[in-house]
Amino acid sequence: MAKVLVIGSSGQIGVELIEQLAKIHGSSKIIASDINLNLNRNLQGVTYLKLDVLDKIKLLEVIKKYNISEVYLLAALLSAVAERNIQLAWDLNMKGLFHILDLAKEKYIKKIFWPSSIAVFGPTSPKLITPQTTILEPSTVYGISKMSGERWCEYYFLKYGVDVRSLRYPGIISYKSPPGGGTTDYAIEIFHSAIKKGRYECFIDKDIELPMIYMDDAIRATLELMNYERKKLTVNSSYNISGISFTPKEIASCIKRTYPNFSISYKPDFRNEIALSWPSSIDDSYARKDWNWSHQFNLEKITSQMLEGISNSEA
Ligand SMILES: NC(=O)c1ccc[n+]([C@@H]2O[C@H](COP(=O)([O-])OP(=O)(O)OC[C@H]3O[C@@H](n4cnc5c(N)ncnc54)[C@H](O)[C@@H]3O)[C@@H](O)[C@H]2O)c1
Repeated sequence: MAKVLVIGSSGQIGVELIEQLAKIHGSSKIIASDINLNLNRNLQGVTYLKLDVLDKIKLLEVIKKYNISEVYLLAALLSAVAERNIQLAWDLNMKGLFHILDLAKEKYIKKIFWPSSIAVFGPTSPKLITPQTTILEPSTVYGISKMSGERWCEYYFLKYGVDVRSLRYPGIISYKSPPGGGTTDYAIEIFHSAIKKGRYECFIDKDIELPMIYMDDAIRATLELMNYERKKLTVNSSYNISGISFTPKEIASCIKRTYPNFSISYKPDFRNEIALSWPSSIDDSYARKDWNWSHQFNLEKITSQMLEGISNSEA
């Protein structure tokens, strides 16, 4: 029986994606792999493997051994970390993708999910309700790698018929697994800090509005896209996807409704520049039209889920 391989399964998205994939396909069909395994988080029945996506020989061995048909490629260096490690970011974000695209071209895999990001947009892209097709001049290493990855995904689809599907995720908010060093990490840290310390020092200015999505919505979008009929999809690179947009000030006032004494201060660092180069809101009408995408979590719902989830997991 064909199986599903997740590469980068110990990360913020991987941990929760594995849970959902196991529910859909059955745990025995899921192979979770990462260069760093977090053994405390293992789900019963799922196979966990240490695997480096840059090791193509081992990758092929795993794909053959477990009869993998579908790959979710999550291993990447995220925006803030990538700025400090340019070469590794480029190597991991590009070579990892090429390895998987080539294995699909050679017919070892049938379907791929590879996430892109709103980081493909840059200072010259329209800032409000940023369209699907527009100027893409990213100013970060991460954005450059994601933009190039999107072009390669479309190229492999058009030239070789590789079924690769992709979403331009906005900042993803969740509490089950820590974020991996992106610019939108403040929108997660703020909840942890509110509960533990009653205050937060934000590395982004108070009025910078960025597009965000709650993890449940992001995973549902991913699985909906992966299970939709290929011939009905009209975007072959990566779909704009959106939840809601808000500023650090708005998250803080939402938290204050539950924690009235919570206080926030602002000390912007290099991530503020990255945030300024990104859109404030995203037009995801292609996703809505093509496969009926619609988000379910607004800021109030995200805030209550985050505060409750973190409190319960620390109790
Ligand atoms: N989290 C977000 O807000 C967000 C937003 C936009 C796009 N994305 C994209 O989604 C994907 C997953 O993001 P995430 O937040 O889960 O990232 P993360 O940093 O939390 O997890 C990435 C995982 O990849 C693993 N990894 C690193 N190098 C590896 C290698 N050589 N081989 C195998 N595994 C390796 C890491 O150990 C880590 O567990 C990435 O492509 C990221 O660019 C995430």
